[in-house]
Amino acid sequence: MRLAKLIAVVVIVALFIQGCPKSKEQSSDMKITKESFGKTADGQAVDIYTIENANGMKAKITNYGAIVTELWVPDKDGKIADVVLGYDSLDDYIEATPYFGAIVGRYGNRIAKGKFMLNGTEYTLATNNDENHLHGGDVGFDKKVWGVAEVKSTNSVGIMLTYVSKDMEEGYPGTLMSMVTYALTNDNELKISYEATTDKDTVINLTHHGYFNLAGHNSGDILGHEVLMTADNMTPVDAGLITTGEIKAVAGTPWDFTEVHTIGERIKDVQGGYDHNYVLNNQDGSLALAVTVSEPTSGRVMEVLTTEPGMQFYTGNFLDGSNVGKGGAVYNLNNGFCLESQHYPDSPNKPEFPSCVLKTDDTYTQTTIYKFTTK
Ligand code: GLA
Repeated sequence: MRLAKLIAVVVIVALFIQGCPKSKEQSSDMKITKESFGKTADGQAVDIYTIENANGMKAKITNYGAIVTELWVPDKDGKIADVVLGYDSLDDYIEATPYFGAIVGRYGNRIAKGKFMLNGTEYTLATNNDENHLHGGDVGFDKKVWGVAEVKSTNSVGIMLTYVSKDMEEGYPGTLMSMVTYALTNDNELKISYEATTDKDTVINLTHHGYFNLAGHNSGDILGHEVLMTADNMTPVDAGLITTGEIKAVAGTPWDFTEVHTIGERIKDVQGGYDHNYVLNNQDGSLALAVTVSEPTSGRVMEVLTTEPGMQFYTGNFLDGSNVGKGGAVYNLNNGFCLESQHYPDSPNKPEFPSCVLKTDDTYTQTTIYKFTTK
């Protein structure tokens, strides 16, 4: 009798466990695979990783430029589409890219006239954007082959990329060790964690340069996307897109996204289109929601959370159809938008802005999350 009772209890417990939905933490559905993506001109082997979370959201990431080449995200009906612009082959990325999906560094965005002073020494960088320095110079981090390690946790799968930039590479002081981890979580987030250290004081501003189109990378312009930003201020720029040093309220201007507006609504009132740094309301370095973008036809929503003080909002103003992308997609004006979490442009020359100096005894960190939902 006792034995029968015991068996009954065991059977009930076993049935209960089986019937329970697997918690996300227990999921073994996360996958990571690696393939060759070819070689650089100087013979360095490059790989591409396919990462999949437990919900079937998928990313492809290469260790050339730490580039996210594909990002497959479900729409309101569960149909997945690739929502980032990019190329099919390594050669296309090597030939010419407007920084599609890359990590840019050491200094993302512009440094006026490619010069800055640090600890009493003037440093001279490449002027690769008219008279200014842009995105780390002639051979920035977007063109480097990074080291890779696979990383898996209970709730995410991804890769950790590392790059050691030599002292005076592209004119920057200090040997800089950078570590960027891309993780796809089971909450449908692409989480990017950055860390860096240096052996001499230097300046640093790493960011991710993904071009998004939430309707799918080959769906035409992004002007119908709806944007909401927690930013009451922005940093105005001169004709060369160098910040003037002013922090300007967005209220009453076409830059105001503190209430929802489509990208296209007032873009004609912004000369050249949006290519501006927003001063985020959260300035304390904690991870906070900065931007929400919704695409009405697919129902896809992307939230961007960051620890950074600024966000460059760029509407693909230099896309002109000359970039033939994945599957033959032609990327024309405004066919993608970027949200680059960052320190403000030209901070090395603007002591009034939050400092981008990394000292030898400090560790640079930043976290940015692109989180996908639907409505
Ligand atoms: C950033 C800049 C833009 C442009 C793009 C790359 O977003 O702010 O001006 O240089 O990168 O084309």
